[in-house]
Amino acid sequence: MTKRIPITLTANGSEHEVTVTPRRLLSDVLRDDLGLTGTHVGCEHGVCGACTVLIDGRPARACLTFAIQMEGHAITTIEAVARDGVYSPLQQAMHEEHGLQCGFCTPGIIITFEAYLRDNPDPSDAEIREVLSGNLCRCTGYQNIVAAVRKAAAAIRSGHP
Ligand code: FES
Ligand code: FES
Repeated sequence: MTKRIPITLTANGSEHEVTVTPRRLLSDVLRDDLGLTGTHVGCEHGVCGACTVLIDGRPARACLTFAIQMEGHAITTIEAVARDGVYSPLQQAMHEEHGLQCGFCTPGIIITFEAYLRDNPDPSDAEIREVLSGNLCRCTGYQNIVAAVRKAAAAIRSGHP
């Protein structure tokens, strides 16, 4: 029988004790053990970007990360992006610019750009598209997502928290 190992995960500022087999994926622990189902699982092999979370503030594929690797690291999921029920500038812009249809890809896109805009709040369209190339959307032509990122960047530059 595969050994199960107790670990402590910090997700969205809260510590969670979970017991995992060594090969259990972070995406499965987030969704199934912690109930953080905003992290979506599409391809399960690192291509679609739907499972993107922040690990110590940097975007990472939860489907390519073993939960057991996360002891001592801080994970942020889409559930922690809005503050006190208020959308982040990017969430608001995605809403206003119709940057989503089914919404399956949206958490991964928002997590990716929350980190990116923090580092580069004045990206060109080419830079936005390059970053977006890591997140597949089956519904849209990406144009509205690019417009939303551009709008969010402007809001951040004008001092929106
Ligand atoms: S589910 Fe992780 S990249 Fe697709
Ligand atoms: S909005 Fe449907 S997959 Fe992106």
